[in-house]
Amino acid sequence: MGKRIQAVKGTRDLLPPETAVWAAVEATARRVFALYGFGEIRTPIFEETELFARGVGESSDIVSKEMYNFTDRGGRSLTLRPENTASVVRAYVEHGMHSLPQPVKLFYIGPQFRAEKPQKGRYRQFSQIGAEWIGTRATAGGNPRADVEVLLMLWRFLGDLGFSDLVVQINTVGDAESRANYRAALVAYLEPLAEQLSEDSRRRLVTNPLRILDSKSPAEQALLEGAPKLVDHLNEASRGHFRTVLGELQKAQVRTEVSPRLVRGLDYYTNTVFEIVSAGLGAQNAICGGGAYEGLVEELGGQPAYGVGFAIGEDRLLDVLPAATRARALPPGPVIVRALFDAKRTPVEALSTPEAATQLAEELRTAGIAAVDVGAESPARTFAHADHLRAPAILVLGEDELINGTVTVRTTGDRAQRVVERAQIVPYLKQLLLSLSLEVKS
Ligand code: HAM
Repeated sequence: MGKRIQAVKGTRDLLPPETAVWAAVEATARRVFALYGFGEIRTPIFEETELFARGVGESSDIVSKEMYNFTDRGGRSLTLRPENTASVVRAYVEHGMHSLPQPVKLFYIGPQFRAEKPQKGRYRQFSQIGAEWIGTRATAGGNPRADVEVLLMLWRFLGDLGFSDLVVQINTVGDAESRANYRAALVAYLEPLAEQLSEDSRRRLVTNPLRILDSKSPAEQALLEGAPKLVDHLNEASRGHFRTVLGELQKAQVRTEVSPRLVRGLDYYTNTVFEIVSAGLGAQNAICGGGAYEGLVEELGGQPAYGVGFAIGEDRLLDVLPAATRARALPPGPVIVRALFDAKRTPVEALSTPEAATQLAEELRTAGIAAVDVGAESPARTFAHADHLRAPAILVLGEDELINGTVTVRTTGDRAQRVVERAQIVPYLKQLLLSLSLEVKS
């Protein structure tokens, strides 16, 4: 026996029936995002390293510590995408999407890669469901309305998945001018206290002081109590932007909570930033993060454009998916078709019972009914099979059935057994499946 090889640390396999739940969540995303006119984009899984260095920002943890980068055979520095916003913006610029009617609305579902220390809810390959709204012209009412639209879509998606206890933590990091003002004030406050800061925070004091606000250390949080507040350094435009977003979300009954210390870990944000956390997740509790990015398109070589979007961590979303939604997401299993095989008796009409079972299974599939043909498997194995696949019924075909033109049906829910005319089997099963799906949905 060869040595066993396991999935790489921080990665995992998703198996049935869990994959069916993932597919159902993704189908909900596709349906809801289409309601807002978002189309799907699929970007490559690896990009030039420079895209993320410039897009996400050299000072971010993602770029400075967590990227899977490698040199390819041509000597190019490439990186497995740690997030998808930079790639979407790259594609927007590369395909000249600024000349399409604006805004351009794109969504994506797919794997991202970060070399973080694995723990519950934190993987090195994880999946995001995200969306980006990018436009070179302000919509009527200005850019805050784009933030609102994106958040309404996100909120509807989570609502359709059955979440009822979530809150959007929201903040503003201001526009470039407001941030420069604030940065200066924060540095002036923290510099004399630098001795008391961690090494990480001292480094950030130079590279990205706002990120110090995110510190998890109680001692640093205490130091920050007296720090100048970002809200006091917002210019009128940024203040107005935030006020509009909050007001409209409130009118639309999106549950929000202003979270003054929320600054997010990626460098491209301007004005609105938000996160959704779930109490059910432990330390890695953010299921979604997002915000607006006013300068990113230009930074990546495009015309100035406004962008806003979010990404949901699909792995974490699935961890806290409401039980009823999960149950609904699992489709009923296939019916099982089993042959009673008695080798001592001669086959009727030259068709053995296993052959008849295969034929019946194919007929069911033609009628759109999922069927698994287990041949002449023993009763015990058939029951185990039915249980494993959550089969709604076991159909038995023996010689008596072949002679009489019938099928014996055992429904697994009530364990009742009845004989059904072969000609009636399709309508009978359709009725059974319909009643089961009604039961799950009610
Ligand atoms: P992010 O906050 O870095 O934002 O990631 C979004 C979500 O991805 C997180 O809230 C979390 O649920 C999930 N996530 C991140 N890292 C991991 C991990 N190691 N394992 C499992 N899940 C993880 C972004 O990626 C931005 N691109 C969001 C965005 C889009 N902003 C504007 N547009």
